[in-house]
Amino acid sequence: MSQIITVHSYRGGTGKSSTAANLALLLASGGHRVALVDTDIQTPALDLMFGDTVPSARRSLADYLVGHCEIEDAAYPCRADVGHDGVFLVPARSGAAGINEIMGRGYDVGLLREGFDRLIDLLALDVLLLDTHAGFNNETVTAMASSDALVIVTRADRLDLAGAAETMALAGRLGCVRVSVALSMVPDGVVDDRMRAEVESAYATEITAVLPYAPEMASLAGERLFSPAYPHHPLVTGYRRIISAVSNGTTAIRRG
Ligand SMILES: Nc1ncnc2c1ncn2[C@@H]1O[C@H](COP(=O)(O)OP(=O)(O)OP(=O)(O)O)[C@@H](O)[C@H]1O
Ligand SMILES: [Mg+2]
Repeated sequence: MSQIITVHSYRGGTGKSSTAANLALLLASGGHRVALVDTDIQTPALDLMFGDTVPSARRSLADYLVGHCEIEDAAYPCRADVGHDGVFLVPARSGAAGINEIMGRGYDVGLLREGFDRLIDLLALDVLLLDTHAGFNNETVTAMASSDALVIVTRADRLDLAGAAETMALAGRLGCVRVSVALSMVPDGVVDDRMRAEVESAYATEITAVLPYAPEMASLAGERLFSPAYPHHPLVTGYRRIISAVSNGTTAIRRG
């Protein structure tokens, strides 16, 4: 059975896109067929993170949503020589023209869900990973509603935690049963009792994974993805914990 995993945060800049990209690579390195869709049409990131995987004259999710192409025309196999083998990427949009068009014309939200299902079928995917815009908009809510597993990436910061109750209430209404909370950008990777209690009380669930703040990520300057560069780093251990939590062991992620 294939799985849709959505990575979300209430506030921006928590590490969602980095998490989604690294989860995709780690799942693919475990032998799974994975596609990563950047549903963050306002502030896309994944095409940059994957470097020159995506050609400059390209199709995107936004092109599909306004009827310029099929979703599969916007799925690009990532380059094996830079360690991204086995991952397909659907970029969010092509330049500023893409956002003007989609904002001006709007689109039928049902197309998003149809596109996800079509990608799973045509690419014979084990896992479809959805990166989202922070907060709640059409794409984000549809991604959450479509997912088998929701990964919430949050800092232990009052501003982030302020959105916890709203996020969990929405996730409940949308029928998200498998919700994991990844505590992100943790200084020294150490969670003290007070921090743990605050986060777990805000989300009314246990923390699934601790993602340490990694200065090494800044030194990569966005030129390489983290897990191939630092495969033994505690941050990668944190990403792997998320994978085991959402899949109950990666053997659970299988096409049926
Ligand atoms: N664990 C980490 N340690 C240090 N830096 C990190 C970590 N995770 C992400 N970053 C850095 O923080 C910045 C924001 O990360 P990212 O783009 O993944 O967040 P985001 O939640 O997707 O942001 P947005 O809401 O804008 O889409 C990036 O510069 C990234 O390299
Ligand atoms: Mg992002």
